[in-house]
Amino acid sequence: MPKIVMHKNGQAHAGEVKENTNLVVRAGIKQFPFPNLSYGCGMGKCGKCTSRILSGAEHLPEPNWKEKKVLGEHIADGCRLICQLWITHDLELSQDGIPAIVPSRPAAA
Ligand code: FES
Repeated sequence: MPKIVMHKNGQAHAGEVKENTNLVVRAGIKQFPFPNLSYGCGMGKCGKCTSRILSGAEHLPEPNWKEKKVLGEHIADGCRLICQLWITHDLELSQDGIPAIVPSRPAAA
């Protein structure tokens, strides 16, 4: 089972999750990493679940179009939208020092 270490407010929270788990879905049913994971829409739109991947990024899929749209240049800093990831391997992530993400909006027609 994947082991997750999540850093938030200077503390590390560790837990194990089933393979192919979405951490935002888990937090939504009050399982680890609840209550330490910040998130919002769960749909790759708000950016509130943004986390920096500290280790295990090599096991994650390439960022999808929603992540590219919301995170932009922050992807190069190791940021991902946790609601868009299904975890299959150990992962260490942090929500400390995350840049304020302002999702880009389509230009007005
Ligand atoms: S929870 Fe809104 S983008 Fe992930």
